Amino acid sequence: MEDLRIQSVLRGEKITIRVNGQPVVAYEGESVHAALLAAGHRVFRQSRNGAGARGIFCGMGVCYECLVTINGVPNRRACMCPVEDGMEVVIHGQ
Ligand code: FES
Repeated sequence: MEDLRIQSVLRGEKITIRVNGQPVVAYEGESVHAALLAAGHRVFRQSRNGAGARGIFCGMGVCYECLVTINGVPNRRACMCPVEDGMEVVIHGQ
C-alpha cells in the first residue's frame, strides 16, 4: 500500500508494527493513529449501536472514536499510544 506520509518530514527510526497480522511501517515518535492513517486505514471499528464506522475524530484523546486493541489490550486510543517496534494492533472496521 502507498505510504501517505509527507516525505520531506524528518522522522525517528523506521520500525514495524503488525495490524491485523500484517506488517505496517511506522516511525518512532508516531502515534498508532498516524501509522494507521499513513497505511491507508480509515475505519478502526464499528459502533456497538449500529451507527456505523468509527475512526479518527479529535486526534487528541477526547472523543474515544479511535479505539483499537494493542498487544491484546482492548479499547486503547490509537491517537494517544506511541508505536513500538513489534506492536500488535487489531482493528475491527474492515
Ligand atoms: S481520535 Fe478522539 S480519542 Fe482518539
